[in-house]
This record gives sequence, structure tokens and C-alpha cells, in this order.
Amino acid sequence: MAGVSSVESPQGVAGQAESDRWWTNGVFYQIYPRSFSDGNGDGVGDLGGVRERLGYLELLGIDAIWLSPVMRSPMADHGYDVSDPRDIDPLFGDLATMDALIEEAHARRIKVTMDLVPNHTSDQHEWFVAALAAAPGSPERSRYIFRDGKGENGDEPPNNWPSIFGGPAWTRITEADGTPGQWYLHIFAREQPDLNWENPEVAEDLYTTLRFWLSRGVDGFRIDVAHGMAKPEGLPDHDWDLNELMRNDDDDPRFNNPGVHEIHRGIRKVMNEFPGTMAVGEIWVRDNERFGEYIRPDELHLGFNFRLAEAKFSAEQVRAAVDNSLAAVAAVGGTPTWTLSNHDVEREVTRYGGGALGWARARAMTLVEFALPGAVFVYNGAELGLPNVDDLPEDALQDPVWERSGHTERGRDGCRVPLPWQGTEPPFGFTTAESTWLPMPADWAPLTVEAQLEDVRSMLSLYRTAIELRSQRPEFSGDGLDWYGSPPGCLAFRRRGGLICALNATDGPIPLPPGQLLLASAPLVDGALPSNAAAWLI
Ligand code: NOJ
Repeated sequence: MAGVSSVESPQGVAGQAESDRWWTNGVFYQIYPRSFSDGNGDGVGDLGGVRERLGYLELLGIDAIWLSPVMRSPMADHGYDVSDPRDIDPLFGDLATMDALIEEAHARRIKVTMDLVPNHTSDQHEWFVAALAAAPGSPERSRYIFRDGKGENGDEPPNNWPSIFGGPAWTRITEADGTPGQWYLHIFAREQPDLNWENPEVAEDLYTTLRFWLSRGVDGFRIDVAHGMAKPEGLPDHDWDLNELMRNDDDDPRFNNPGVHEIHRGIRKVMNEFPGTMAVGEIWVRDNERFGEYIRPDELHLGFNFRLAEAKFSAEQVRAAVDNSLAAVAAVGGTPTWTLSNHDVEREVTRYGGGALGWARARAMTLVEFALPGAVFVYNGAELGLPNVDDLPEDALQDPVWERSGHTERGRDGCRVPLPWQGTEPPFGFTTAESTWLPMPADWAPLTVEAQLEDVRSMLSLYRTAIELRSQRPEFSGDGLDWYGSPPGCLAFRRRGGLICALNATDGPIPLPPGQLLLASAPLVDGALPSNAAAWLI
């Protein structure tokens, strides 16, 4: 091993007790509530289903669950369109179910974090209903972003912003007197009007929501579109040539405007009233310096860094993603975060090539991810090695992207298919109903929890072992890491505590670095690490 180089990742303490900072190396498990487990037999997952599966989560060894939105919602974007942020949607249960879930999870030493959607509401939120009924310029309208249209009759949108889901980011309303009226801004679907964060009422209401859930025992939040909320002065046109859907670049006037930081400081003040709680922001910001601004000690506790989820299965790209994510937090003494997938992106088994190849690579990347310093976010079903389901029938597709793109983009349903729990045919114990909200592939029998639980070679067993070792072995301690020189197409790094992680992304076996083997994602071949595999050594 030659050419050791170091990357620092100082994790500032900002005056908090160490136990309050459980999230600095926590394993979070993202539950997409519709798809995790159905407790009431209607074919859609719910909180009752989560309660029934807490034993499974304890066995998996995770520290915290992150529930994608369960608040009251008309479900135009599966809960990311919230009509009452201080209630549970009847599809998922009620407040009593949520309280019981928090209590039972805590009894198993599992923290509960929830999605929070401060950038927009549902168009069915009482504020938006009142805004539509009120006149232009009224206090009701000023909670959202209403503008007069351009052109002679105001029939052109106020600017050229597209919606992330396709089509314009503006919808024109009909005024109470029946005449064509103002336009409102919705960066996502038209059922998700953007809030006006310059109106102090908006922040006050969010603080009420934060306190509502934190005083019920919730341990933290994932903040949706945390780089959104603040809008640029005068809402200037964008100047890109292409209108790409789901675009996430730094030259985008819709996101990452400087006013957002004051909003996060306000959120942090409320969180500080509840020691031991945390907030992680969804931050699609590429520039490291600007990314780091979100996790300054008086802003968010953590920020999602998506570089690893975007990297191809190549040693070069993985190393660049790791370096980048560490550098993004280093300047502000923040904690790095790692994720391979979530409910918005293609599942990793498919992304890495699908089939046996994708499976092997996903196993390897699981070891890379869990070897890194910081917090790890696992998307439900990743631990089963679920692939994307790319052949869902068109009439089953539910993601608003499908409709809004004029049926040119299938959207994100392929990574949201319900989890298989047991048995040999759909719905694989997910529900007692005959059908599920998205159809489940008939060939998922080998992927069920039941099929994998006792099989030491399964993805589930790899996750369980990796999580257990990570939480118990001293070799995983310390911030930052040192890179080892390694053959082309491979990478190797060492944690300060002594763990070595090696990844072989070449076509043939490579010798392992010296050390005692702790875990490998595939059986060694004559003592060498096979291609598309990773290993841990001490
Ligand atoms: C990001 C969420 O992850 C995504 O699922 C949602 O559609 C948008 N924000 C809008 O809330």
C-alpha cells in the first residue's frame, strides 16, 4: 500500500451532549409508508403496518426511522402535498396510531423522524382555499406566491420557470367573479402551491408544526426541498436552453437563494428547545461551499449529499463522490451523510446494471457506504436488494410526473413498489388485500424477508452484519479517512479507528490489502477479492 492521502471530516459539537448527537453516525431507515407494510388490508401501507414490523427493524439494527410524509394530504404527490401538517392522513392511521408508534419504537431504542414539507402546501390546505376565495393583494393571497400574468390580458405566466414535474411552474386561477385571474407559483405539481416565506405567518405556522410533533416525542425531521423556500427578488426568468424535468443544478433561480439560511436558523432555534432532536435537509446544491452553508452550527444538523447515489459503479466516481461529500461538510465542521437510493431515484441494483451484476455491485457499495464516517440513510427495500420495477403497466402509474410530462416520463413509481415480506406470490404478505397500490412482480419470491432472513448469503444478512459491526467495532471510530494507493479500478481507505475498506470495480480479482478479513460482499477467490466486490479488514 503506497501513497496514503488524508481527508478530514471534523464533526463539531456545538455545545451539545454526545448522546444528543446520536445522529452523527446513525443508520436511518427511510420508510415510504405506502409501500412498507399494510396493517389494515386496503392494499396501501400505513402506520399500523410499521408498528407490526418494528421487530424486523430492530433485527436489522437501524437507529432511526424516517417516515416519508404521513400528514393529512389529498395525495397528489403521495403526501408531499400536505393539507394539514398537524394531523395524520386517515390512509395511514391517526394521531393515536402515530403516538403508539413513537412509544413502541422508543421502547426498542429506535428513533422516529418524519418528513416535513415547508416549501409548499396542498391546494386543499385551508390557507390555499382561502387564498383562492380572497381578492388579489389580500392577506390570504400573501401566504402564497400570486402574481399578475404577463401580456396584454395577463394570460402569460409571470416568468418562464418550469415545474420540476413538467409544464409551467405557474397556474392561472379564476377569480371569485368568474374572470381569468392571477397566477400562482408551484415549483412542483399544480396541487402543490409554493408558500411565501417572506410572510412571517408562514414561519410561525411551521414553528407550531415543529413543536406539535416534537412534543409528541418525534426525534427529528427530514426537510423536503430544504434548498427551496426562499425565492429571488423579482422572480427573474431562468436562462437555460433546455427544460429538463427534475433538474438540479446550481444556476437555477428556483432554488438555493440566500434568504433560505434565515429560515433554517429559525427552524434550528425551535429544534434547540428539544435537545437530542435533529433535522436533515434535502439539499440539491452542487457547490461545496454553498452546500456547507446549510449545516453551519446554527442551521440544519445534517444535509443529504446525493453524490454517492449519483456515482456510477466506478472506483474513480465513488472516490470522487466520497471526497466531495467529506469536503462539503469539512469547512463547517459538519457530519457527512451517505445514501445509495431513496423514493425519488432508481434503485441501486438496477442502476448498477441489474440482475446478478447489479446485485453484486449493490452489495459491494453497501460495504463502502457503511464503512464511511457519518450518517447513513437506507431506503426501504435496499436491504432486500429490490430492483426497480420498470415494466409497471402504464395504467398503474401514479407518480404525477407521468401525467404532467404528457406521458413521456414514467416517473418514480418503479422504486416505490411495495416490499415483499413472505410467501411465494404477490402480495407477498405486504397486505391481506388481493391487490396492492402498485402491482408487485410475480418473481419476487426469492427477495422476501422470509426467504432472506436465515440465508447467510442474502442481501438482508449482509445488511444486518454490516450494521452490527459498524455499531459495535471500535475500528469504525473517528472522523475522516485516509486513502490507500490501490490498483486502477479499485479503491481502498482506512478509518482512523483502523477499519480498511477495499472496493474492486475491475473485471478480475485483486489481492486484498494486508489485514484480517472482517466481512466481504462476495466469497474470496484464492484469497483475492473478486470483481464487483468489497471487503472490510482490520
Ligand atoms: C422532494 C421529495 O423527495 C419528492 O418525492 C417530492 O415529490 C418533492 N420534494 C416535492 O415535495
